Amino acid sequence: MPDIGNKILQLREQLNHHNHQYYVLNDPEISDYEFDQLLQELIKLEQQHPEFYDANSPSQRVGSDINKEFEQVKHVYPMLSLGNTYNEDEIADFYGRVSKQLMDESFEIVCELKYDGTAIGLTYKKGQLVRAVTRGDGVQGDDVTANVKTIKSIPLALKGDYPDSFEIRGEIFLPHEGFKRLNEMRIQDGDSPFANPRNAAAGSLKMQNSAQVAKRPLDCFLYYMLGENLPDNMHSANLDKARTWGFKIPEHIKVCKNISEVLDFISYWDNERHNLPYDIDGIVLKVNNIDQQRSLGFTAKSPRWAISYKFKAEQGYTKLKSVTYQVGRTGAVTPVANLDPVFLAGTTVQRASLHNADIINSLDLHEGDMVYVEKGGEIIPKIVGVDESVRQPASVKIEFIEFCPECNTKLIRIEGEAAHYCPNTDTCAPQVKGRIEHFIARKAMNIDGLGSETIDLLYKNGFIKDVADLYQLHPMQLSGLDRMGDKSADNILKGLEASKEVNFARVLFALGIRYVGETVAKKLASAFKNIDDLMQASLEELVNVDEIGERIALSVTDFFSQEKNIGLIEKLKLAGLQFKLSDEEQASHSTKLDGLSFVVSGSFTSFSRDELKGLIEKNGGKNVSGVSSKTNYLVAGDKIGPSKLAKAEKLNVSIISEDDFKKMIE
Ligand code: IVH
Repeated sequence: MPDIGNKILQLREQLNHHNHQYYVLNDPEISDYEFDQLLQELIKLEQQHPEFYDANSPSQRVGSDINKEFEQVKHVYPMLSLGNTYNEDEIADFYGRVSKQLMDESFEIVCELKYDGTAIGLTYKKGQLVRAVTRGDGVQGDDVTANVKTIKSIPLALKGDYPDSFEIRGEIFLPHEGFKRLNEMRIQDGDSPFANPRNAAAGSLKMQNSAQVAKRPLDCFLYYMLGENLPDNMHSANLDKARTWGFKIPEHIKVCKNISEVLDFISYWDNERHNLPYDIDGIVLKVNNIDQQRSLGFTAKSPRWAISYKFKAEQGYTKLKSVTYQVGRTGAVTPVANLDPVFLAGTTVQRASLHNADIINSLDLHEGDMVYVEKGGEIIPKIVGVDESVRQPASVKIEFIEFCPECNTKLIRIEGEAAHYCPNTDTCAPQVKGRIEHFIARKAMNIDGLGSETIDLLYKNGFIKDVADLYQLHPMQLSGLDRMGDKSADNILKGLEASKEVNFARVLFALGIRYVGETVAKKLASAFKNIDDLMQASLEELVNVDEIGERIALSVTDFFSQEKNIGLIEKLKLAGLQFKLSDEEQASHSTKLDGLSFVVSGSFTSFSRDELKGLIEKNGGKNVSGVSSKTNYLVAGDKIGPSKLAKAEKLNVSIISEDDFKKMIE
């Protein structure tokens, strides 16, 4: 029935148009009631005619009741963060660096607001939204497409002359009004309110039920486009274009010709931000010209062509009630300040981290002091100053404790380190439990059903003393615990069984060796391939691995020099954990490009730039973004950035073609 098909298409078009008018342009043309009538009509027709199903129909924005875990998706372009600056001097430094690297070429800086929400990458193919992925760890994130589709200001289908395939990134946030409404509803429902709009936005996006997400008044600004065929060579022009395709592109953007225009923009918004209907926490500065962006490149963490300026944090003024001490998994003892509650940047603050003894001393903290607290970005608040003018003359200076508050062992301080440690690694409870908690964490062994409360109970009952004991647990020991049913116990056992498949790199990370985080664990696993070779590795062999410095190497050799750790690994081996790379992991790696670093620039015929970079890594090489004297090869494609080429020539870096490269890995 072509009539029905046409009717459905027409309704979808109408609804898309009205969504855009309402949510992007703030200019509705019809009433909510009329909109709802159209939507109901569409839903009915689609139900009667499932042959016209379309994943991007506006009817799909209501979400689905199906619960689902998120799939992890690798970002096509890594999702990096921005370097921070806090004052005019640092902005001037950034300006100077850019200017120098561009060899005094003139450049424009685009100033944008820095939206305080949660980052999202949207991929469009042939004008259709195909995927929405969170930042995750920057390399891969959660596929939250179903949830993102419920955000009405995000177009599901584009209009106009968009490129065939591209990614656009932005920030999902909750405006103040929506935040207030949401929290009122939560309080009514007996749920605890969200602390601030950012938490609420991030939390909403991660809900497992998109029908629930649809009820949250989320919004999204887009600010960065990526792809091989962008319409323009200027970032600002691309955003203008994207606006015509239906995206909500922020209005408050300024293309600045010089640093004084940048500083004006910053100081204007430092005041004016309080009048915006949503939170911003700073200003983002971006080099406008994309060729120039390319030639500036990236550091490991962030682009060299962009930076953020963070507004000064709000300060609170309150009374220090006491200082208590926490012992972490590594035995480090952290002092915590307990404060009279004070409202600060959206939340009530009662505790602040004091980091270490030096900080306490440099603040010259006394009991009962009136102190200034700040939230450094989003992390735990810290004490930034003391009001000495109101200090009671008899008040006692705060001295760091000498004995562990948990096990009473005398604390030690390692030369050159700021922290105090409890050396009783074997029986100091928070250390033992902390190591086990780290081991079972999602990014480590990811043991389903097991949480810190259960660990606590198992430990108290004497069932576990180290991570290897987890694999010896008897079902009865679990089901006999307080508030633990047979089903939960079974779940834990299944989780433990499944963890035997977790790959070597994650097992290595799970061991909790100091300074061996996720990335370092991956590097060590692929360099040494199995635990035995890693255990035998000398300091020299370790520091020869790319990005492994002496501090990490020392910590690794120290860990493996301890009898008890060797014993632990033996027990874990017997339990069946993975202590070597899998055959597939081995097969997909070669060492042809070991120790060589590459810069890839331009476009290629047999693969995309990212495929090429992937090949470099698979063969043991390293991708770097900018040409330097340490670069071994510049792989030059079509339309290669002229400044890269010039720099490579100047520094005598070998410039190779796509074909040359293919020969290298043959
Ligand atoms: S551009 C490679 N523009 O701030 C550059 N980011 O720490 C990508 N953010 O991850 C980011 N407003 O979540 C950019 N106008 C804006 C932004 C913005 C907020 C967030 C974003 C990013 C983080 C950087």
